[in-house]
Amino acid sequence: MVRLAMCFKVFKDDLPVNPGNCFCTHRRFLPKRPTTLILENSVAMFCIAALLAYVLAALLVAASPTVVIREPPINLPVSKRYSFARGMNMVQSEQARARMMREKGMAMMGDEQIESRAAVSSIPATNGVVTYTAQVTVGNNSYSLIIDTGSSNTWVGARKAYTVSNTTVKTNQTVSVSYGSGSFSGTQYLDRVSLGSSLVINNQSIGAASKAQGFNGVDGILGVGPTILTQESLSPLSSTQIPTVVDSLTSQGIIPSSILGVSFAPSTSPNQVNGQLTFGGTDSSKYTGSINYIPITSRSPSSAYWGINQSIVYGNSTANSTNILSSTAGIVDTGTTLILLATDAFKRYATATGGVPDSATGLLRLTPAQYTNLSSLFFNINGINYELTPNAQIWPRSLNVNIGGSKNFVYSIVADLGSNSGTGFDFINGFSFLERYYSVYDTKNKRVGLASTANTRSTSN
Ligand SMILES: *[C@@H]1O[C@H](CO)[C@@H](O)[C@H](O)[C@H]1NC(C)=O
Ligand SMILES: *[C@@H]1O[C@H](CO)[C@@H](O)[C@H](O)[C@H]1NC(C)=O
Ligand SMILES: *[C@@H]1O[C@H](CO)[C@@H](O)[C@H](O)[C@H]1NC(C)=O
Ligand SMILES: *[C@@H]1O[C@H](CO)[C@@H](O)[C@H](O)[C@H]1NC(C)=O
Ligand SMILES: *[C@@H]1O[C@H](CO)[C@@H](O)[C@H](O)[C@H]1NC(C)=O
Ligand SMILES: *[C@@H]1O[C@H](CO)[C@@H](O)[C@H](O)[C@H]1NC(C)=O
Ligand SMILES: *[C@@H]1O[C@H](CO)[C@@H](O)[C@H](O)[C@H]1NC(C)=O
Ligand SMILES: *[C@@H]1O[C@H](CO)[C@@H](O)[C@H](O)[C@H]1NC(C)=O
Repeated sequence: MVRLAMCFKVFKDDLPVNPGNCFCTHRRFLPKRPTTLILENSVAMFCIAALLAYVLAALLVAASPTVVIREPPINLPVSKRYSFARGMNMVQSEQARARMMREKGMAMMGDEQIESRAAVSSIPATNGVVTYTAQVTVGNNSYSLIIDTGSSNTWVGARKAYTVSNTTVKTNQTVSVSYGSGSFSGTQYLDRVSLGSSLVINNQSIGAASKAQGFNGVDGILGVGPTILTQESLSPLSSTQIPTVVDSLTSQGIIPSSILGVSFAPSTSPNQVNGQLTFGGTDSSKYTGSINYIPITSRSPSSAYWGINQSIVYGNSTANSTNILSSTAGIVDTGTTLILLATDAFKRYATATGGVPDSATGLLRLTPAQYTNLSSLFFNINGINYELTPNAQIWPRSLNVNIGGSKNFVYSIVADLGSNSGTGFDFINGFSFLERYYSVYDTKNKRVGLASTANTRSTSN
């Protein structure tokens, strides 16, 4: 393998605009590994000439380094919302969502009809208990919307009703989506959607709910999953796909590329602003090292989602490790709280940790001694190990009582998906995973990116 010492600078937002800032840091340049050079617009012009020489040199030996000229990041702050109610079981709610997602994915990929909508919608709706939300303006009103990479319809009206205003355009379509853990139905409009002062979409297709169930303390969903998931939601134009906000931002030239960067962080108190969405690029201040990109899995039904292949091992010494899940397909999902593993894999994890099911919370419960004994869990994704430390495997202990748990126990955030492996939808890496790794959803290149963060090994829980 040819290695070339190459230098470039990753510009920081706080650097003054000055050609002197083009000085480089040395990095090893590995051919065949896409390299992203991130330039801020303001300083880019001074550095293009300096960089060009390096890029040309690199091109001679490398496959094709990608040079990304990034717009200033367009960010949207997000907060984590806890809305627990007595008697709710988080695991059941997540399993209902997972079951619906699998069926829907199969239908979208043409594997199977959505069988028995009635049976699916008769699942008792429980409230999503912990969600990341963003404040979004639709028409002339502001709404708190769940950030969901696992669905793609954007809609409002679960709590605060949608108001028709002078920016509203009728489409003459009705809309309905079932999430397993909830559902909504209503009218589809075109309207102005503002995700922030520089992110104003005109003519975004949005749903206005007349009926919604299973949503507590939020107004609806900002659906940032793959566009295909919107199929079958409109009526009578049921085969029509609805552009997502990311599609519209891109097609209207508001962002340079259909990329969404998601930064979440562990939190130990309710309703904390602890996250950020970046539209059109990634925010290098939110991760460490480089982003590893993973192709979307070809395995249905995960392929309808932000689906990836992954294997999981418990324990970090080869002499003392347990295979939890052999390489299989599943998804990355901001709309799921926990890490859900196929039942057979979950049982292996429970045996390895010594945890027992806790009826109050639905989670796996560990004694303090078992927690002290806990090993890391390694997620092997596209050849790279993503470590989930013992602390990253547990629910924040200061919030145990909020989910009906006890202060004296430790609860694992690794839970049962509710079906055995082999379905092509064998895990969900929910936001408990994404609070430890920065994630990127790249529509155009059909890939997911993951990177370490300052929180990857933090012990905040
Ligand atoms: C939005 O516009 C409608 C119609 O013009 C108006 O009735 C309503 O009061 C407005 N709402 C807000 C929050 O401005
Ligand atoms: C829509 O109404 C707002 C006030 O509610 C007004 O400021 C704006 O100019 C109106 N826009 C159009 C296109 O009429
Ligand atoms: C919706 O229906 C109305 C009344 O039938 C019609 O005037 C209008 O053109 C329709 N709009 C669209 C987008 O089809
Ligand atoms: C608005 O969006 C609809 C559907 O997404 C599209 O058919 C229409 O051409 C768009 N209109 C404008 C003015 O962009
Ligand atoms: C993922 O795993 C499936 C088998 O489950 C395999 O066919 C596929 O090639 C793997 N890689 C990708 C990128 O889909
Ligand atoms: C700790 O792990 C070891 C080896 O897996 C096991 O033998 C021991 O019983 C564990 N201790 C507790 C308290 O679970
Ligand atoms: C192995 O796991 C322990 C926790 O059980 C962790 O502290 C340690 O850093 C891990 N070592 C490596 C090399 O990953
Ligand atoms: C296996 O790992 C556990 C911690 O996960 C440790 O307590 C135990 O001593 C290890 N056993 C061996 C044989 O290394």
